[in-house]
Amino acid sequence: MKLALLFVCFTAFSASSSLVQASKFWDDFYVTFGQQNVKYPGRNTGEIVDLGLTRETGSGFRSKYPFMFGHLSMKVRLVGKNSAGTVTSYYMASTFKKWCELDFEFLGNVSGQPYILQTNVFVEGKGDREQRIYLWFDPTADYHEYGVLWNQNLVLFLVDNRVIRVYHNQKNVGVPYLDYQPMYIYSSIWNGESWATRGGREKINWAGQPFQPSYTAFNVSDACPVKNTSGYSDLHGCYSKVYRSPYGRRPNLALTQTQINDLRRIKNGFLIYDYCTDLKRFKGVAPRECAKNWP
Ligand SMILES: *[C@@H]1O[C@H](CO)[C@@H](O)[C@H](O)[C@H]1NC(C)=O
Ligand SMILES: *[C@@H]1O[C@H](CO)[C@@H](O)[C@H](O)[C@H]1NC(C)=O
Ligand SMILES: *[C@@H]1O[C@H](CO)[C@@H](O)[C@H](O)[C@H]1NC(C)=O
Repeated sequence: MKLALLFVCFTAFSASSSLVQASKFWDDFYVTFGQQNVKYPGRNTGEIVDLGLTRETGSGFRSKYPFMFGHLSMKVRLVGKNSAGTVTSYYMASTFKKWCELDFEFLGNVSGQPYILQTNVFVEGKGDREQRIYLWFDPTADYHEYGVLWNQNLVLFLVDNRVIRVYHNQKNVGVPYLDYQPMYIYSSIWNGESWATRGGREKINWAGQPFQPSYTAFNVSDACPVKNTSGYSDLHGCYSKVYRSPYGRRPNLALTQTQINDLRRIKNGFLIYDYCTDLKRFKGVAPRECAKNWP
């Protein structure tokens, strides 16, 4: 089976699964919908939170404040067994002016079949930048770290600290970049059975409800929070901080050789769909940023 081979060639990527102590969930997040499906296992310590999808409702959370640049991550264990039709999304988004969003969407599957990880980048209201990959591990067996490194030069999508995608700042050639709107962190689980699994052919089996992705180890120790969103002073602080912080300095200003290798491995072994090669969508001409999406 093709997937088994891919697992082998990517074993060097498997993460250690030791759990890091998370800050208390409710210090940094609030529930946006489906409160009745949100659970705090682990004796209510607030270090782990489980979202839930039932026939009645999905559920979701949002960070209390947005961030402007940083290395932000969280560990997630996805819904196991038959998760077909469920979509667990984990993303950063601005809430005002021109919509910006950095998206991880995990498309569930029937038991034993692989999840798809779809990523997307919205800048100034425009998305249509989907990439889809298979992961090199079973994301339902344990917690894995999903995050972004975001600075003045680039956005890296990271899985267990390995780069799976890059979006470069190419404002010099007219491609819009995410560099003036702070973004909140969100996650939710919802019913995506009309499209998510095998193009919508696999529906949700409600016998398996509640469908519960689990979250822990929220880490923004190396990021710039914008705690006062009514003024711009925090935001301006983040612009100057980026040049002094690890995430905004070398080697994080360009892809390292390891990251170039990571991206090549993703492209050659795990990529299922890349909007850049879907020329029918773009009248024969790939969007401008595509030239630099893969090293
Ligand atoms: C689900 O499994 C099928 C069969 O292996 C695969 O074609 C598909 O890409 C998988 N993922 C989704 C989300 O449909
Ligand atoms: C949090 O992330 C930073 C990188 O941004 C890393 O150096 C640090 O070890 C992480 N902390 C924990 C507790 O994992
Ligand atoms: C937030 O910023 C505004 C405008 O600069 C200021 O008037 C207000 O006092 C600040 N709020 C806090 C809690 O610092």
